[in-house]
This record gives sequence, C-alpha cells and structure tokens, in this order.
Amino acid sequence: MQNASTVLNLHQYSDMKILIKNIKSLLGVHETPPQFLSGKDMRNLPAIDNAWLAIENKVIVGYGEMNDWPGISDWRDLEVIDATGKYVLPTWCDSHTHLVYAGNRIGEFVDRIHGLSYEEIAARGGGILNSADRLEKCSEDELFENAMKRLDDIMAMGTGAVEIKSGYGLNTESELKMLRVIHRLNANHPLTIKATFLGAHAYPREFKDNHQGYIDLLVNEMIPEVGRQQLASFIDVFCEKNYFSVEDTDRILEAGAKYGLVPKTHVNQFNVIGGVDISVKHKALSVDHLEVISEEDIAILKGSPTMPVALPGCSLFIKIPYTPARQIIDAGLPLALATDFNPGSTPSGNMNLVNSLACIQMNMLPEEVINASTINGAYAMGLHRTHGTISVDKKASVILTKEIHSPAELMYSFGTNNIDRVLI
Ligand code: NIG
Ligand code: FE
Repeated sequence: MQNASTVLNLHQYSDMKILIKNIKSLLGVHETPPQFLSGKDMRNLPAIDNAWLAIENKVIVGYGEMNDWPGISDWRDLEVIDATGKYVLPTWCDSHTHLVYAGNRIGEFVDRIHGLSYEEIAARGGGILNSADRLEKCSEDELFENAMKRLDDIMAMGTGAVEIKSGYGLNTESELKMLRVIHRLNANHPLTIKATFLGAHAYPREFKDNHQGYIDLLVNEMIPEVGRQQLASFIDVFCEKNYFSVEDTDRILEAGAKYGLVPKTHVNQFNVIGGVDISVKHKALSVDHLEVISEEDIAILKGSPTMPVALPGCSLFIKIPYTPARQIIDAGLPLALATDFNPGSTPSGNMNLVNSLACIQMNMLPEEVINASTINGAYAMGLHRTHGTISVDKKASVILTKEIHSPAELMYSFGTNNIDRVLI
C-alpha cells in the first residue's frame, strides 16, 4: 500500500480531462518509479485500494485513495469513469515483435504438425526466407494497412507500447521499406512504437554460400543508410548456430554503435554460443529468448543494464523449452515478457496469453508477471520514462479490467478477455 495521495489540480491543465473513480485497486503505482525491477523486488506490485486516477492532456496528473479525494472544482470537459469492482494498471509494454510482415506461414504450421521442426523448415529454405519472399512482393501500403490492423488488435488486448523489428527484407531496399512502414505506423497509430533494425536475421539465398558478403553489405551499406535516415533506435542480430556467430554479432553491433543504434539481440534460442556475453559487452538494452541459458550467462547479466526478455508464446508454438524464469529471477536478475509476434514462430500478439503462460509454464507469480510485462517491458524498449508504471507525468496508458476477484485472475482465466477498456 502506498499512503500518500497525489493532489489533483485540474486548474493547471486545459485539455481533455478524465477521472477514473472507485477503482477496486490501482496497480503498479510508483511515486518515484525505478527504471526496472529485479529479483525479489519483482514480487512487489505497489497498489492503492479504492482509488482514483486523474488524467489530463494524455498524461497522469494525480491519483490517490477515494477517502482522500481532493474533489473537483472544475467539471468542464471532464469525463468521469466509474471503475467500481475493476482494477486499473499500466498497459502492457511488448518489447519484442516482428509484426510488420506479408502473408502468413500457415503451410509451415501444418508441416510442423506432420513432424518437421522449425529448424528443419528453415534449413529447407522456408522460415524467415519464406517471409522475405512474400515481403519483397508486397507493397508498402499493403504492409502498412495489415500492420495497422494488427496494432488495433493488440491495443484492444491491452498493449500500449510496442517494439517492431525489420528483418524480412534482407536487402537494403526491402529493409528500408520495412523501417519506413514502422515509422509510418508510429505517426498514424495511437500506440507508442519503437523500431529495431534486424537486417542480421538470416542470410538471403544469394548469400547462402557467402555469409561474409552479406555481413559486409550490412556493415557497409544497410547500417549506414538506416543510421543516416534515422529509421531505427535499436539494432538486433539473430546470434545462433547456422545464423550469425558471436564474431559476426560483434562486428554488426559495433557498426550499429557508430550510428547510435542500441543493441537488443536474439540470443540463446536453441544454443548457448556466447550471445549473452557479446551483447552485454556492447551494452545491449535487452537479450531476448534465453530458452537455454548457462550459469555463466547469469553471472554476466548480473549488475549489467541489460534486460533479459522471455518469449513464452514462441516456446508454446514451436514446442521449445520455456525460458527458465525462476532461475533468472531467483538469481536476482530482472526479467521482461514479450510476445515475439511474427508469422513463423509466434503468430500471436496477445500479451494476456503470454502472461498466463508465464504463470503456468514458467512458475512466475502474478505480481512478477505484471511487473515483467509493464515496467520491465518499458525499460526493454527505452520507454521507462513514459510507460510501465502509474506515476505522475507518465503517459496515461492504462488498462481497466472487468470486474474480477484479484489481479491474478487475469492470468488464471487464460484465454478469457478480462480487459474492459484501454486508455491510451
Ligand atoms: O524471434 N528467431 C528468430 N526470429 C524470430 C522468428 C522469425 C520467423 O520465424 O519468421 C523469433 O522467433
Ligand atoms: Fe523474435
């Protein structure tokens, strides 16, 4: 419980005002928000029972207990929402997606039911290259329209901020096309969107036997162009056996750093090859996947500014191990949760499902899950100053639940939509 209620002074503000009152419990309240939560602190979800929340000009301006409500002197243009029986919490911050894509990979889904593995499909020339073929033929407008619909869908499921990667272009023109689409989405959609350049996602067919040639292209042409056009905040590499080695990753991240591109990497999805170490050396904002992880990786992450990110939707869909969340959190590390929304390994952008999986399959406590999907997710995409907690001056990006018994019911009743309303 947090005692002090922040004073609501509506006179200071002139734009649209919203008051949410009679909130059963306001969750994730931080008067002075930390950047992220680690270890045992992840169990702590600060809350105010029987609360109010005031929003003005899209920003949180006050909150407190109904008993201490300062009242309102100016009711003009004020929308009042009665949240009796409902919880209010920060929107989900989905820090890892590939949601700009063309077509689908339903055929590969059926192939996997017949017994092929994700890796076998990729080795046959399917997988990421399949999506790259489709993207090549898809117009920028069509990519944009399809992604806008996906953004509407995830927003309705409680997501308020999302990171989107390129990586289905695999040549300069198509990678820039993807990043321009992400830029346009950010300008046209109410969600907060961050862009990541993932040219190092796979080797295109023409470089099948000349991997160094593709890495040269990334370093000498693609990265400088992305940097010059300021089309991305982050740079990602799929550091994995048969994809990009630790040495390749080192070179690519170094090239990105020259243009201020901060690393967020795909590591340890199938094999521990040193991806965590090289990412932390490059001061990565996050290391994502971690379905396999070594004690050495955990020691390296300890005390670093790098956020481990788990993607349980991917584990569910392609039947690979779940990220050992307990091992990570019990070692004192932070953890964020994200969807990995993409057509191949995780065709779902539903953070509520991710949260349920984290409880059911990864033994995370409901409070840990909510922190992993809000404050820690915001940090993992550089949005901790504006998103992830209920704090004065942060963006008014909140979920109103339906009338539920406790916050844990969000995860418990998996597959059920317990979100009543999302304010962005
Ligand atoms: O995070 N592992 C690499 N990239 C994606 C999958 C991309 C795809 O299959 O299209 C992932 O799972
Ligand atoms: Fe991914």
